[in-house]
Amino acid sequence: MTRLTSEIVKSIPQRLNDYDKELKNKIKCTLRELAFTAVEGDIKRKPDINNAIAGVVPMTFGEGVIPGFSYAVSSIISHIGMESFVTENRDITGIEEAIDRGANILFIADDLRFIALNILSGKYVDNADATALGYSTALEIAAGGLQGKKVLVIGAGKVGKRLVGYLKIKKAKILLVDKDFSKASMLEGPSILAYRSIEEAIKETNLIINASPATIKDDWINSETVLSAPGVPLGVSKRGIEKLDTRLIHDPLQIGVAVMAVKSASL
Ligand SMILES: NC(=O)c1ccc[n+]([C@@H]2O[C@H](COP(=O)([O-])OP(=O)(O)OC[C@H]3O[C@@H](n4cnc5c(N)ncnc54)[C@H](O)[C@@H]3O)[C@@H](O)[C@H]2O)c1
Repeated sequence: MTRLTSEIVKSIPQRLNDYDKELKNKIKCTLRELAFTAVEGDIKRKPDINNAIAGVVPMTFGEGVIPGFSYAVSSIISHIGMESFVTENRDITGIEEAIDRGANILFIADDLRFIALNILSGKYVDNADATALGYSTALEIAAGGLQGKKVLVIGAGKVGKRLVGYLKIKKAKILLVDKDFSKASMLEGPSILAYRSIEEAIKETNLIINASPATIKDDWINSETVLSAPGVPLGVSKRGIEKLDTRLIHDPLQIGVAVMAVKSASL
C-alpha cells in the first residue's frame, strides 16, 4: 500500500462538492449515493447512518500522523451526511476522547491498517474491503452491469483479493494480473484466470480495475475503456487521462472512506 502524503489529502475537504459534480458526470451518482448503492448491494438491505457518530482519531504509531489525513477523512464522512469529528488527542487518549464525546464508530489507522470500528456492534470495516466494494460498484454502474463481462483486475494484494470476491458476486469473468504471478495464480478458479502480463490480458477487455501502482499505457486505452482505479499513484499519463475522459474513476481516499462509513454504521 502506498502511504498517502499531506500533499495528496490537503485539498480533499474543500473539493468535495466539485468531486460530487465530477462523479455525477461520470456515473450519475454522488459519493453518498455510490456508497449507499455499494453497501446496499453488499448487505442486501437499506443502509442506515442516522444514529452513527464517527470519531476520527489521529494515530502516531509507525511512521506517524499524515498532516491533514484525519481532517480529510472526517470531512468525507460529514459530506455524505454522517456526524463526524476529529479528536484533539491522539492514540489511546484520542480513543477515550472520541467515546466520551459520543462517537459510536472509531476511524483509526496505522501504517498497515485503516479500519472503521463500530463499538456498539463490535464489527469493523477495513479500508481495503470498502475500497474494493466501492470501486467494483462504480465500475458496475459505469459498465451498465458486470454479469458475464470480462473485467481485468491488476494487483492481487489486499484490495485486489477483495475485488475478486466482489466481482465474483457480481458474476463477472475475472482476468487477474500481478507482477508476482504466484499471487494471481493462487486465486484462479472457475471465473478467475491469471495472466502473466497486463499487455496480454488487456486485449480481452475494456473494463479495468487497477488495484496496484502499475502504469496503464496510453495505447492500451481506447474509446470503450473504463478504468476504475483505486491504485495510488494513478499510473495514467496526462494524455491517457484525456483519452479516458469521464470513463476514469479514481481518487486517493473518498470512495473508500465513504463506503467504510456507510457499511460500518450498518453492521
Ligand atoms: N484509493 C483508495 O482509497 C485506496 C485505498 C486502499 C489502497 N489504495 C491503493 O491501492 C493499491 C493496492 O492497495 P493494497 O493495499 O492492495 O496494496 P498491496 O501492497 O497489498 O497490493 C498491491 C499488489 O499490486 C501488485 N503490483 C505492484 N506493482 C504492480 C505492477 N506494476 N503490475 C502488477 N501488479 C503490481 C503487488 O505485487 C501487490 O500484490 C495501492 O496502490 C494502494 O495505495 C487506494
